[in-house]
Amino acid sequence: MPVEFSDDFVWGVATSAYQIEGALTRDGRGSSIWDDFCRGAGNIVDASSGQGACEHYERWGEDLELMKWLGVDAHRFSIAWPRIFPEGHGRLELRGLDHYSRWVDELLEAGITPWVTLYHWDLPSALEVRGGWQSRDTAKHFVDYAIAVMERLGDRVNHVMTHNEPWCAAMLGYWEGTHAPGIKEPAAAIRAAHHLLLSHGWAIEALRSALPECRLGLALNPAPVYPQTNSAADVDAARAQDATRNRIWLDPLYGHGYPADLVNDLRKVGAWPEGEPDWLREGDLKAIAAECDFLGVNYYNPVRVSADETVDTLPEGARVTDLGWEIEASGLSDLLKRLHEDYAPKSLVISENGAADNQGPGPDGEIDDRMRCDYLREHLAATTQSRAEGIPVDAYFAWTLCDNFEWAEGYTARFGMVWYEREEGERRPKQSARDYREHIAAAQLASKRSTG
Ligand code: FCB
Repeated sequence: MPVEFSDDFVWGVATSAYQIEGALTRDGRGSSIWDDFCRGAGNIVDASSGQGACEHYERWGEDLELMKWLGVDAHRFSIAWPRIFPEGHGRLELRGLDHYSRWVDELLEAGITPWVTLYHWDLPSALEVRGGWQSRDTAKHFVDYAIAVMERLGDRVNHVMTHNEPWCAAMLGYWEGTHAPGIKEPAAAIRAAHHLLLSHGWAIEALRSALPECRLGLALNPAPVYPQTNSAADVDAARAQDATRNRIWLDPLYGHGYPADLVNDLRKVGAWPEGEPDWLREGDLKAIAAECDFLGVNYYNPVRVSADETVDTLPEGARVTDLGWEIEASGLSDLLKRLHEDYAPKSLVISENGAADNQGPGPDGEIDDRMRCDYLREHLAATTQSRAEGIPVDAYFAWTLCDNFEWAEGYTARFGMVWYEREEGERRPKQSARDYREHIAAAQLASKRSTG
């Protein structure tokens, strides 16, 4: 069943640089923390890296054809910081800028609007050596990088996201150590979180004055957090998760500062100092609350919490993806409603949504990835419903075009609507790609009918 959307709704597909580009030493690219992290024993389940990935850096023409065939209005992609400043700051690599500038031209020529993400986790290694996101200097370098990119692309790119999922960058990268740079130190994670937010605010301010027409925002991965039961302990555990997953970002971004309950929790584990943190300076909170034009929401699954960590929180009979992530589209509706009610962003953009479905080719060679087809359909229906309730959801970006390097999962989790196997090299649309194409075509037809 096609879902209904108005004419101005943006249909897109999202990717990120390290996950698809390959060509890690081409055109003067410097090393990133992901290059380093992938070399660490046991960090990536199949001991792989972004080397090779989808070879998008060379084979972008094939990806462009696929996107034209899908009929998307927009493409969200990220710029690799180490291609622009191989040492993180200082020397600018023009070949990197040339590459993305050409890509923007190609997209525009194909009628596809570029949505640029400036930071999708590939910090230049040279900056990590000096503390990475734990250092305030990294936030300053980020602003210079943002300006350098947009000085070149700003005449053609009108949609920019500063960061992608700072929760992952800070909490997985510096607290749990399961993502680059692989540090396991709670206090480091909170310092990193603050500098990520600060770099966002500073960049928004700088870009706003340089490019007043450009629509600016960031992509978070907020989630609805449900307590397992109504017991006081479970409800409190859910509150605590909501604080580190959602409110630590949203409250300061929307001008409310860091939540008191979060600070209290973090003090108990030594992640927030007893007095004023030395990294929180006068003016920081005002800078972080710089006004955005939209909020990007990456949604995959709800979070369920029990105070007892041994309890399996997955509801009985729940469907899961091939990564074991619960499939529950009502979580998206709940989340959008909450964001609208509590923070009222001017515009909400679903900047990622998709499923790991490892279904391979059947005997006839066709790839019938039913689970992903159902997942996309159900989440599009939830999006329609939110729009019908008056929530300003203006765009949807499916994650993702081709099977690619899925961070710590390496190549073992397939999120692509297009099959890609590094040894084969061929890109083969799956059933979900055909379905997504139909959803888009049907929506465009319906909006044409209603407007004319
Ligand atoms: C998100 C990331 C994206 C991709 C999907 C599956 O957390 O932003 O790069 O890995 O998950």
